[in-house]
Amino acid sequence: MKLEFVERYRDSLRDGLGQALRGDDATRQILRYHVGLETVKGKAADAMGKLLRPSLLLYVAEDLGAHLASALPAAIGLELIHNFSLIHDDIEDGDRQRRGRKTVWTLIGVPKAINAGDLMISLALQEADRTSADAVRCLLDAMRDLVDGQSMDLDFETRWVTPSEYRAMIQLKTGALFRCALELAGIIAEAEPDVIKRLASFGEELGMAFQIRDDLLGVWGDESDLGRPAGSDLRKRKKSYPLAGAYQQGSEDDRAFLERAMKSEPVVDADIEKILTLLERLAIRADGEERMKAHLQEAVKQVPYIPFSEDALSAFTALFEGLTAFMTPRAKAED
Ligand code: IPE
Ligand code: IPE
Ligand code: MG
Ligand code: MG
Repeated sequence: MKLEFVERYRDSLRDGLGQALRGDDATRQILRYHVGLETVKGKAADAMGKLLRPSLLLYVAEDLGAHLASALPAAIGLELIHNFSLIHDDIEDGDRQRRGRKTVWTLIGVPKAINAGDLMISLALQEADRTSADAVRCLLDAMRDLVDGQSMDLDFETRWVTPSEYRAMIQLKTGALFRCALELAGIIAEAEPDVIKRLASFGEELGMAFQIRDDLLGVWGDESDLGRPAGSDLRKRKKSYPLAGAYQQGSEDDRAFLERAMKSEPVVDADIEKILTLLERLAIRADGEERMKAHLQEAVKQVPYIPFSEDALSAFTALFEGLTAFMTPRAKAED
């Protein structure tokens, strides 16, 4: 998914991240590795993530009349918070790969990885503090929600969930940062309070669509698209969209099977195969795609109340089409 509005800010974001994470110590070095600025050995790398959240922030802020320079610190703060959450998330989820590269905890161990994530939070808030008190508050609220969402996600590993519980979880763990991206744009552009509220809803719905897409990719994504082996969510008993949906829509027998399969330790390969067959039979992928589109349609409902330019409307159309087309960037090999 190559989007013009994302490409536009890549260099500014790379520079800003490099500035925020500068320093010779090992912790800052591993943070530069994690965000994709450097290889493990400290050589320059080109392995940043999609940069969707900060690019949205910058693009919308500019579209609503702000100067790029006034929005950059908040965008860097937001991307750093996202990246802190990924460092800790990979520990929590036991994932050894992200963006096709080794995760931080596999390289430096869990204690140092936790601490590296903590440093990233501190640096993120310092960046945001260069903007305004409202911007810092927005980021703090989003961070609290994200962590609350992660608590729910982890709790769900040991129990089954209702659709509304799943919805609440993704609203917090992923909706919150996207919400914050758009809200920050409005704050920095000094938009009217009602417009800021509309922007926040737009972002939250977009974020929820994005998480459902990530959940579907976790089962049906190509390993090279995914940046890690497919199926890890199933093995971790994650109640991501596929399992939550199958439990909801399956028959009594299907539920009994899922309950049994998820009780065995570890989850056996034959059961993973059977779960995949069950997901096919229940058409969970198509169902998830519908859910994802429903969230995007909710986001679109906010558009008439936001003074977006024609260009911005085209950019969002391209973004929504890209998301529904199911593609993520491939990681390149590096040393
Ligand atoms: C990963 O987010 C975590 C989710 C909310 C699904 P991204 O897919 O935006 O991560 P990067 O930064 O582009 O790798
Ligand atoms: C995404 O978590 C949300 C956060 C990191 C807060 P996931 O565990 O669903 O995302 P990936 O698939 O590891 O990126
Ligand atoms: Mg997780
Ligand atoms: Mg994860």
